[in-house]
Amino acid sequence: MKAKKASDTAGYTSAMRAIANLAPKDKKYLIDPFSIEFLPFPWSLTKPLFQAKLFDPLIYRFGMKAPDKMVGFPGMTALACLRHRYIDDQILLAYEKGIRRFIILGAGYDTRALRFSLPDASMLEVDHPDTQLRKRKILQKKHLQPSCRLEFAAVDFSQSWSEELFSHSYIKENTNEATMVVWEGVSCYLHEADVVNTFETVSHLLKAGGVFVFDAFSAELMKPDTRIEILRKMRDFVDKKGEPFYWAEDEAPLKKTLAQYGFKQLDSASIYDIAADLAEKESLSISKDEILKYLAMFRCQR
Ligand SMILES: C[S@@+](CC[C@H](N)C(=O)[O-])C[C@H]1O[C@@H](n2cnc3c(N)ncnc32)[C@H](O)[C@@H]1O
Repeated sequence: MKAKKASDTAGYTSAMRAIANLAPKDKKYLIDPFSIEFLPFPWSLTKPLFQAKLFDPLIYRFGMKAPDKMVGFPGMTALACLRHRYIDDQILLAYEKGIRRFIILGAGYDTRALRFSLPDASMLEVDHPDTQLRKRKILQKKHLQPSCRLEFAAVDFSQSWSEELFSHSYIKENTNEATMVVWEGVSCYLHEADVVNTFETVSHLLKAGGVFVFDAFSAELMKPDTRIEILRKMRDFVDKKGEPFYWAEDEAPLKKTLAQYGFKQLDSASIYDIAADLAEKESLSISKDEILKYLAMFRCQR
């Protein structure tokens, strides 16, 4: 990440969710009304357009196609929003099953503490200090109130952050409580050693039981000589933004690593499968052609 600057990519995923809000009924699978509060500059200038309602179909059509096409990797908006919706469902399912303690690693402008009604739950958002500072300033300025107890921990995943996290008062209390850890859109920005350190840390965080949900890009993303142009363009784009990709892994070797860290009931699903399930369940029209396909979601337990 660029020094002294909130993550641009966190701003982009927020902007993608703002666009998804405007989808027509047969394509609507994500509703995040708070996303427009976190739009990065110059997207922030378009906030009145998002609020006007009048231009929704136009902004949606333009928003789903133009930015993806301009940067050369179409389908990124659908990928990020389907991933977000999948995790939304996993959080609500965990809550239904009795989990009340949620830890969101690399939270960015995640608004689940605002959007969901989780009155007797608590949430710890862990993120890079610069991104978290911008988020907290916006929450305060806009008087945005969470529905549950919301706490923050500012760490850098490329430093020795585990000790810092384990000394946080939120982690020290209720250590016997089942927990859900979410790690969304972050693993690709970390070096392998930091990814493995995260698995080890999460394994400790879940020692009283719980669920871990995260995503990973296919290993192809990091092959220097990949023939898939879309992946090369993605890498170039994030490089230029100062948030380069360092890690990606395929499902089989990743499940092996997770098992080494004590995770079990290892489930994975490609982003295509997630789209197909959702389309069937909610009678939506989501075509594979709209989705960048090189991502899988993982869910496991301790
Ligand atoms: C693409 S954003 C994803 C944000 C959010 N989870 C979402 O899905 O919208 C990547 C997030 O990872 C965080 N991040 C990246 N590298 C990090 C690091 N070394 N330490 C802490 N956080 C980091 C950024 O601050 C940012 O919030």
